[in-house]
Amino acid sequence: MEKAPNRPDLLRALAGEAVKPAPVWFMRQAGRYLPEYRGLRKQARSFLEFCYTPELAIEATMQPMRRFAFDASIIFSDILVLPHALGQKVWFVEGEGPRLDPLTHPGRLSFEGFDEHLAPVYEAVRGVRAILPPDKALLGFCGAPWTLATYMIAGRGGLDQWPARTFAAREPDKMAALIDIVVEAAIRHLVAQIEAGADAVQIFDSWASALDEKAFARWSIEPIARIVGGVRAQAPGVPIIGFPRGAGFGYAEFVKRTGVDAVSLDWTVPMSAAKALQRKGVCVQGNLDPARLKEGGQQLDVAVRRIAKSLGDGPFVFNLGHGISLETPPDNVTRAIDVLKASAA
Ligand code: CP3
Repeated sequence: MEKAPNRPDLLRALAGEAVKPAPVWFMRQAGRYLPEYRGLRKQARSFLEFCYTPELAIEATMQPMRRFAFDASIIFSDILVLPHALGQKVWFVEGEGPRLDPLTHPGRLSFEGFDEHLAPVYEAVRGVRAILPPDKALLGFCGAPWTLATYMIAGRGGLDQWPARTFAAREPDKMAALIDIVVEAAIRHLVAQIEAGADAVQIFDSWASALDEKAFARWSIEPIARIVGGVRAQAPGVPIIGFPRGAGFGYAEFVKRTGVDAVSLDWTVPMSAAKALQRKGVCVQGNLDPARLKEGGQQLDVAVRRIAKSLGDGPFVFNLGHGISLETPPDNVTRAIDVLKASAA
């Protein structure tokens, strides 16, 4: 196929092409591991205020694009702006993480003022798309219903998602009502980001790892399938990436039943399983261990080459298996991208 001028490599890969060298972006590529972000962050009193200030969000999105040869940017925001826009109290404790007023009943959520609340995010998307070179893609995103529910129910982050798992087991109807609200919110938020200029979107189910087979089908796959359907109905042709982190043996079922265009793989997924997904025509994204990026050196080069060599002949986007860690030296990011781009020669 003739390469359309300026069509971002990321979009070619998401459409099923084997692009060489592989397009690359990193989850959490903006943020505190960058000194320029730490400087910028001081201009807002709180993290959420930062997210809702378009000039700051635009600048934070662009910082990694100026410093590194990434093929795509992801709008600087957070998954927790959705519960916030639905009326739940959300704040961030410096050095600790998010806090929410724990949700006991989904009836407390409301769509009143939802679009106005999120308008600064869409303004930031428009602003980034206006200054980003046309050969670079811009990604919008949202949290998946299950992952958002874990924060909304517990009121904070956790490792095993016990509060949300027990809530779902005890009150499945209430859980279903909560998930339905978040499905609608996610569709509206993704479509609005696309209308503002996002070229593709990613759905983060960061805590898919916590669910048993039945719960994974009901609280991760099924709601995400509805989001995919809802977004496609309003924005046909815009690629959707799913990230059911830690889904293990559930990845293939997730891809088949949600209908996502691409799947982001965490670092535990073996190359053989990734290749099996590619053979079904799915674009795979991933899956370097962020710990390897943080440590750098030769082991990093070897790991980058191994992934690129294993997956580079099919539809593939190079990425991390989860977000970049805070302690990562920025030069290691430069090194990983250099090795990736050289490995296709
Ligand atoms: O560069 C990018 O990837 C864009 C921005 C982005 C952020 N959060 C900025 C952020 C994205 C895509 C997210 C997604 C997000 N947020 C997820 C899904 C991905 C994942 O990591 O699993 C989740 C679970 C959250 C919720 C969240 N936000 C937590 C748990 C925390 C605290 C932990 C931490 O890293 O501080 C945040 C805060 C947050 N989100 C920061 C940034 C840059 C740090 C806050 C600060 O800079 O003051």
